[in-house]
Amino acid sequence: MASDLSGAALARRVAEAADLVTVALDELLPRADGPEARLTEAMRYAALGPGKRLRTYFALETGRMFDLPERSVLRAACALECIQAYSLIHDDLPCMDDDDMRRGRPTVHKAYDEATAVLAGDALQTAAFEILAHPDTHSDGAIRAELVMRLALASGARGMCGGQMIDILGVRDDLGGVARMQRLKTGALIACAFELPLVLAHAQDAERHALLAFAHDLGLAYQIVDDLLDAEGDAEALGKAVGKDAARGKANFVTLLGVDAARGRLALLADQTKAHLEPFGGAAEFLRASVDFVLERRN
Ligand code: IPE
Ligand code: IPE
Ligand code: MG
Ligand code: MG
Ligand code: MG
Repeated sequence: MASDLSGAALARRVAEAADLVTVALDELLPRADGPEARLTEAMRYAALGPGKRLRTYFALETGRMFDLPERSVLRAACALECIQAYSLIHDDLPCMDDDDMRRGRPTVHKAYDEATAVLAGDALQTAAFEILAHPDTHSDGAIRAELVMRLALASGARGMCGGQMIDILGVRDDLGGVARMQRLKTGALIACAFELPLVLAHAQDAERHALLAFAHDLGLAYQIVDDLLDAEGDAEALGKAVGKDAARGKANFVTLLGVDAARGRLALLADQTKAHLEPFGGAAEFLRASVDFVLERRN
């Protein structure tokens, strides 16, 4: 099903989601007066910075599809953005990708120092679970425990951290290996943006499977675009350095396939990804349109 939504309408909706989560995070993240203020300032610098907030967008749209209370879904989105911010702080450290710019500003270890960056990442990670476990997220403790487990699985050794380990070791010299790395390092947290609202909604298996199949293909497309932008994007628009992957000899979709074949794969993925939303009909209009948004993003 094609989408009737204009790019401008969608961009507005993404920007609204970004504003909502930034305001909510500003309220939820700690402030301190003592020497630990350096830590809480670094956490806020990373988490309140101008991210695209696409995981938030996916979570809020899924919540709307299931008529969930926005307050619960927004807290889940805050938890996702805390993990996202922590993963980026650590990803940029000299011992990882050694990057100086992120979201158009100096990375946390440049704006502060390495020890502060490590601690800010650590504390953002625990903040994510604190937010999910709080009774304001849901009145039922069993649901809160399920949310915590889903986010932990997506973030840990079987998710983002596992993927980062594969990336750092460089043990993926074929497309299957790169696809597996992507599924863990980027795909798991993107899928979690759909899983958390699915838990809150007590969704049926068929709905869950359809939406997670969508999330899987969307996550794959997301990383291929990230790799393409690294190869041929604009550092100013991206807010981070470009050409890093080839310079560091990293295997990714573009370094293995080449730009044209990676683009071809993306074009095939677009229709396949949208097709997973068919069971949801018009209710999935904003998610359907977001596929083109992800594919055409320049930052
Ligand atoms: C960057 O994620 C790292 C990847 C997982 C590809 P985003 O491109 O979503 O970064 P922000 O949150 O918008 O800064
Ligand atoms: C990082 O992937 C994914 C994370 C888990 C943070 P990249 O290293 O490709 O992300 P960028 O290009 O630095 O944003
Ligand atoms: Mg990296
Ligand atoms: Mg990186
Ligand atoms: Mg990248």
